Amino acid sequence: MLKELLPTGAAATVPSSENVLKTLPVAIYTTDAQGRITFFNDAAVAFAGRQPAIGEMWCVMWRLFRPDGTPLPHDQCPTAIALRERRPVHDMEVIAERPDGKRVPFMPHPTPLFDENGELIGVINTLVDLTDPKHVQAQLEQAQALAAQQSESAAQDAEMADNLGRFKRDFELLVGSVTDYAIFMLDTTGYITSWNSGAERIKGYRAEDIIGRHFSVFYTPEDLAADIPRLALTTALHGGRFETEGWRVRKDGTRFWAIVVIDPVWDNGQLIGFAEVTRDATTRRNAELALFESERRFRGIVNNALDAFAQIDEAGRVTEWNPQAHELFGWSREQALGKPLTALCFPSNDTFASEWLVSAWQKKLTRQTHQLTAMNRSGRRFTAELSASVLTLASGPLMNIFMRDLTQKIQMETQLRQSQKMEALGQLTGGIAHDFNNILQAISSSLEVVEIIGQREGFIAGDKHIQNALSSVRRAAGLTHRLLAFARRQALDPQAVDVGGLIAGMSELLRHSIGEHIALELALPDALWTAHCDTNQLENAILNLAINARDAMPKGGRLRIEAANISGSDPNAFNVMDPDSSYIKIVVADSGTGMPPDVKERAFDPFYTTKPVGQGTGLGLSMVYGFARQSGGHCVIESELGEGTRIILLLPRYVGPVQSHVELVATADRPAASGEHILLVEDQDVIRDAVTEVLGKLGYEVTQASDGLEGLSIAMAGQTFDLIITDIGLPGVNGRSLADTVRSQQPYVPVLLVTGYDPSVVHSSPSLPAGMALLSKPFNVDALNEQVRRLLEWRHAQREARNS
Ligand SMILES: Nc1ncnc2c1ncn2[C@@H]1O[C@H](COP(=O)(O)OP(=O)(O)OP(=O)(O)O)[C@@H](O)[C@H]1O
Ligand SMILES: [Mg+2]
Repeated sequence: MLKELLPTGAAATVPSSENVLKTLPVAIYTTDAQGRITFFNDAAVAFAGRQPAIGEMWCVMWRLFRPDGTPLPHDQCPTAIALRERRPVHDMEVIAERPDGKRVPFMPHPTPLFDENGELIGVINTLVDLTDPKHVQAQLEQAQALAAQQSESAAQDAEMADNLGRFKRDFELLVGSVTDYAIFMLDTTGYITSWNSGAERIKGYRAEDIIGRHFSVFYTPEDLAADIPRLALTTALHGGRFETEGWRVRKDGTRFWAIVVIDPVWDNGQLIGFAEVTRDATTRRNAELALFESERRFRGIVNNALDAFAQIDEAGRVTEWNPQAHELFGWSREQALGKPLTALCFPSNDTFASEWLVSAWQKKLTRQTHQLTAMNRSGRRFTAELSASVLTLASGPLMNIFMRDLTQKIQMETQLRQSQKMEALGQLTGGIAHDFNNILQAISSSLEVVEIIGQREGFIAGDKHIQNALSSVRRAAGLTHRLLAFARRQALDPQAVDVGGLIAGMSELLRHSIGEHIALELALPDALWTAHCDTNQLENAILNLAINARDAMPKGGRLRIEAANISGSDPNAFNVMDPDSSYIKIVVADSGTGMPPDVKERAFDPFYTTKPVGQGTGLGLSMVYGFARQSGGHCVIESELGEGTRIILLLPRYVGPVQSHVELVATADRPAASGEHILLVEDQDVIRDAVTEVLGKLGYEVTQASDGLEGLSIAMAGQTFDLIITDIGLPGVNGRSLADTVRSQQPYVPVLLVTGYDPSVVHSSPSLPAGMALLSKPFNVDALNEQVRRLLEWRHAQREARNS
């Protein structure tokens, strides 16, 4: 365009500045004093969206608006103000509507130009596109430098007589003073012919060092090896322009990230060289790299978080979704992106989630985290914990949400609460039952003494009443026994048990107990491990479970008992199990009514029953539970209302050699008592006296001791007893320690341990040594006599063996 304004031939003398100005990436135009266009560059055409005609009024080709959107009249536009008020205008933001209707905010910098007489001759205007924030600052500074330069030089320019001289100088000054762009000319083969201050600043060469050298000095060895400089000129020549980004080398050898534009310069159809404009974009590139890095860091954190993470925009649509969210909710990242979070993670008929999101947006959350019912892709509902934070970004607000499935935590807490409750109940019931047993023992022993005396003296009129009283004592004893079982305080005799054999052996009894309307199925594999528990109590437990199942199937059904080996590290292991232990799993499953959640939660509680008064004590499951726990195992209920019930007994595996039981001689063959000497250690006077009386009546001689220490000193004083009967729960030295101490000196003294309960004995010893037996309170004369006889026989057998 400039060529049209300039005399022919002048262009050849000033190609560098005009052509460079033409290709400079800042929109520039000039007008005369009336505002008619006298020059514009390529960037101005690109910015305006059309090619203006020389002589046209610049403002007329646009529709201009103020930033608030109201129309800006022509006489109030910045160029009109600069011309009218003869001053530069720098701070007026304007919106222009392009011919295609697109509106662009920009900052014009019109600066008036004067001749030597101070006459206004026109305006030079630079336009900075505000929609390109990365360039705004640089362009603003550029524009201001251009305008300042222009207005300063305008007075001197005015001295020049003709337009050609003025423009030539303008352009050279303009280009020369540009500091943010390296602007230089190359000849047709790439040798540098001009150099501006921006080039000096960016590349480090002074004009005198570099003019005449080949522009390939700016290229890296890698680019040189790839012949890039030559390719750049060829591309510019044939394609009309070469644009690239890449590393360039400064004079001092350091590198910078350059944005490069190379245009060919023509004169009358003849190539006269190339104009190169280079910008140092190292800071921008570093910022982009930093952004990239921080994006990677963010992704690393989010993808490795333990929780599910989702980010949503203001419309509630997912913008981020990590692999854990995929796992928890079942939607992949591709499926989730762009979808409303509420549709992906929450039940559709539940408004809590959307209400919570609204308050999260308004930052009105009272607590950071919140519990809500969530729902995954397959419809599983679960309690989830959410925490949200709102992020305000230039592009609009976003919300980060972490979500965690609480199902397992809730289960663990419920389990803990349940076991704490069981523990507390156990302590209480155990204490009561123990005291009760002692009282019952006193009553029954006394009654039996009365009975024996009555028989001897011949007055048996009261016999029926004594029998009634004794049978009541037995019923009461049954009750306290079950309480002790629950409290894990029953006297257990754990042994190696063949569970399969035991259950198979019970099948007749079970069939009998459940009735014909219920089918019994047994699934007992051959390769079962040996369990370690009390045989009688295990039978008792299975019977109890079978009876519960029967009661849950009044109209008939199916009872299945199965057993299997399971180790604590098995993937199907119950979480109550110790991962280092092995168990035998016994499942008693029925097709009955099942339990509603509240019944299931309380079923192990002692005295909890849903059966009518008189039909259930509510001690069955309590006992089973206590037995399992006391044996070092567990008991678990799996039941849903209407879906039947599975009670799972987990018993520890027996490790060690299988002990053979002492074969006992049948009672009938036993000789009667013949004055054997028994040491009786019992702290409760009533019981001690009554038992002494009973033993005396049975034909034994008895020495009494009222506590452990006394018992020990008598036993160790030199006299040998044929049998020691001792209570376990004694003040001072307990019965079990007493027994062990005496046995260490006199290994063949049999000991009968009597117990209300004793936690240490029942927990510590796997099995009692030979020649020791356990008798639970309250006991009757027959039971006592039976045990005494057995132990005396054992002693006798030991003697025989030693003598032979
Ligand atoms: N197999 C089962 N199916 C359905 N509900 C059961 C089952 N087993 C136990 N229950 C529920 O658990 C409650 C407690 O059982 P538990 O065995 O402790 O006492 P009970 O059977 O009621 O009385 P008891 O065993 O002393 O005769 C029962 O009343 C019943 O509601
Ligand atoms: Mg029961």
